Amino acid sequence: MKQICVLGVGYVGLTTATCFADLGNTVIGVDIDERKIAGLLQGRLPIYEPGLEEMVRRNLAAGRLQFTTDYTRAIGQSEFVFIAVGTPSGADGEADLRYVRAAAEQIATSLQRPAIIVNKSTVPIGTGDLVTTIIRRLNPTAEFAVVSNPEFLREGSAIADFMNPDRVVLGSEDREAAARVAELHAPLNAPVIITDTRTAEMIKYASNAFLATRISFINEIAVICDELGADIKEVARGMGLDKRIGPAFLDAGVGYGGSCFPKDVQALAHMAAIHGRHPQLLYAVMEINRSQRRLVVLRLREMLGTLDGRTIALLGLSFKPNTDDIREAPALEIAHLLSLEGANLRAFDPLAMEQARPYLPPGTVLARDPYDAAKGADALVVVTEWNEFKQVDLRQLKAVMARPVIIDGRNIYDPREMRREGFEYYGIGRGRPRAAVGGDGLVSASALDQ
Ligand code: UDX
Repeated sequence: MKQICVLGVGYVGLTTATCFADLGNTVIGVDIDERKIAGLLQGRLPIYEPGLEEMVRRNLAAGRLQFTTDYTRAIGQSEFVFIAVGTPSGADGEADLRYVRAAAEQIATSLQRPAIIVNKSTVPIGTGDLVTTIIRRLNPTAEFAVVSNPEFLREGSAIADFMNPDRVVLGSEDREAAARVAELHAPLNAPVIITDTRTAEMIKYASNAFLATRISFINEIAVICDELGADIKEVARGMGLDKRIGPAFLDAGVGYGGSCFPKDVQALAHMAAIHGRHPQLLYAVMEINRSQRRLVVLRLREMLGTLDGRTIALLGLSFKPNTDDIREAPALEIAHLLSLEGANLRAFDPLAMEQARPYLPPGTVLARDPYDAAKGADALVVVTEWNEFKQVDLRQLKAVMARPVIIDGRNIYDPREMRREGFEYYGIGRGRPRAAVGGDGLVSASALDQ
């Protein structure tokens, strides 16, 4: 099997390194963060990803997987050098390439044998050329080729997505090098697309931007459904049965977060804008996503009147279930908006409490469980659709709340059942509350059924 080095052991790099090791290759994961590497060598992961810890430990024990901060050693002996470093957003939304540049410079000074440089990071179109230029300039005699190999991993299902990809995308001006990277993926038995570098880089951005567009589309339809009395979940079901549409990514809610969609849509729009194009659809996708967070505050005001001094419970802080990742999580922005309105916050998340703590408004109470979060709350907002929230005891929840008001930001509950249980319930696109806020700030349950 092959000798592989992966630069950057974050979500993408650690999954990539571990899965390639599990396929029988010898893999060295490299990072500048000594604490991260030290933890990994003891089988402790810096991130939560279902199944990954066990896979890391198994491959460490088998000797197929190693971790080091020694770039020179790791790169020098590898046939394939994967770049999987972060590409955070810059001030104008552009992708910040400082880590990619640093990786290219490290590679240039560490190469000791012909190697194929494989770019896994999500990078602006043209970055493959940049990596080539940097290595060529610093090491004119180096024998290498650059191949773009964008990842399509979802957090929470990264191993499954790696081992069962819908397609493997490879881009390079050196088709023989691309074919050798294709061989590396052969055990996955997936369709392989081999194209040029820029096209492969664009496939990644266009795919993420399209998925984000589906989400903002269904969210716009949901807001219209609220006004016209249609049920967005039924609308999505009816749409999704059309084979040309399909059911995926049509779940209306408080919008998308995470380290990818927000960053990638913004970066693609920025690339268009600096080349003189006006990406109006991408701008609309981002604006709709922002407005979904604000929608929660608007609905709470409709149901409670003023939010000043009210206690609001947030269920879910991670940007989606089965991860502890809070990057661009809707919950953080919603918490900030509610805090600006003078609300007191209580919050619970099964995994992401410690990650979220520094980003929550001061005074936010971090609760032990959903019922503790709901204690004394004037309203409860479901922000992340963790399974355990779907099974809560509604009567117990209502008993501890000051007011039985629920904003279901991920449409996990059935409106009719919630109203039968005596809740003033608002989902996203499931019928807006009739703004009949009584003197005591309560919306009469009957008003909601009109
Ligand atoms: C995404 C892409 O799916 C993946 O292919 C790419 O490699 C990285 O970005 P990820 O960000 O991990 O993966 O999560 P994903 O499951 O795609 O969800 C992204 C966000 O969209 C989450 O905040 C989720 O709550 C939201 N979402 C998703 C919706 O609001 N509605 C949907 O129907 C689907």
